[in-house]
Amino acid sequence: MQPINFNDQLQVLDNLELILSNDCYNQNLFKTADEIRQKYHGDGVHLRGLIEFSNYCNRSCYYCGLRKENKNPERYRLSQKEIISAALTAEELGYGTVVLQSGEDNHFTLEIIAEIVKEIKEKTDLAITLSLGERTKEEYQEWRQAGADRYLLRFETSDPQLYEKLHPVGNFQNRIDNLYWLKESGYQLGSGSLIGLPDQSVQNLADDLRLYKKLDLDMVGLGPFLMNPNTPLAGEDNGSFELTLKMLALTRIILPKAHLPATTALGTVDSKGREKALQKGANVMMPNVTPREYRANYQLYPDKICTDENPVDCSHCIPARLKTIDRFPATGPGHSLK
Ligand code: SAM
Ligand code: SF4
Ligand code: FES
Repeated sequence: MQPINFNDQLQVLDNLELILSNDCYNQNLFKTADEIRQKYHGDGVHLRGLIEFSNYCNRSCYYCGLRKENKNPERYRLSQKEIISAALTAEELGYGTVVLQSGEDNHFTLEIIAEIVKEIKEKTDLAITLSLGERTKEEYQEWRQAGADRYLLRFETSDPQLYEKLHPVGNFQNRIDNLYWLKESGYQLGSGSLIGLPDQSVQNLADDLRLYKKLDLDMVGLGPFLMNPNTPLAGEDNGSFELTLKMLALTRIILPKAHLPATTALGTVDSKGREKALQKGANVMMPNVTPREYRANYQLYPDKICTDENPVDCSHCIPARLKTIDRFPATGPGHSLK
């Protein structure tokens, strides 16, 4: 097999399909990704407290348990007071960032989100990441002015045909336009994709990596597709854990400064999945700070971890897990290195 120098970013970018389809490179790939993570980010792991504040959603993404057609989850919205209280908890637990995430829920208007962002900024030193799906350019600008620092919006797949097959609402070009609007509005931008979607090819995955690079992302979230039986993708195979780790390691090599979370989906398919990700390029974890009574209904896929726990449980669990791999919680907001 052709030798590859994994420290040579251009060589890696030129050979993505080859690396993705041959496991003989894994050892060198994973080792180099871990070294690059160490060099740029050190051994501290940034903790972002995740508040899943509404599971109402206007969209119908084929893979997701929150899609509007799914009658299974009991729908909930946290009140403004509950959201602020969860943010205060995140700060008390020592996290530097709070991530406000929801389905696409227009109940939370421009004004309501702006008020929540302002109040969190007034009462805490937390950095704020929003992850509310596609909204308007005006909303992105107003929330940025209110104090939001970052926005997460995965493009899910870089293949326009596959994107449109899985998303009856919205289209690929619109997704990309939204990502550029966010960039123009001054957010630190996070995106990413699902690995192992039905009909996704190695070429598609290589194109995902090239798109992360083209967008020059500050954060990249990627996780395996996990089949939810209450969706149109019922019966499809889950995405591969190993392949997701390869995508993560390649992302670390092509975007050394990016923040890369060890995602909940990786922790769901393998009990040590997040630790393994942290040893192959990841430098971020997202402990859940949603009050326990709501968690089971934010069920994107079956068996999601941390649904029986409360915020304090996760805050004890994560440092203990980090210790087993000689890592530790980082301090400060963990802004983009760029
Ligand atoms: N509604 C917002 C959005 O779509 O950007 C934020 C919340 S959405 C639940 C967050 C992410 O969950 C999506 O970007 C998607 O990649 C992921 N997700 C949804 N269903 C999934 C599944 N079955 N397996 C793995 N990840 C999934
Ligand atoms: Fe809604 Fe996001 Fe799920 Fe799509 S991925 S159905 S937008 S919550
Ligand atoms: Fe939630 Fe381990 S991180 S229980």
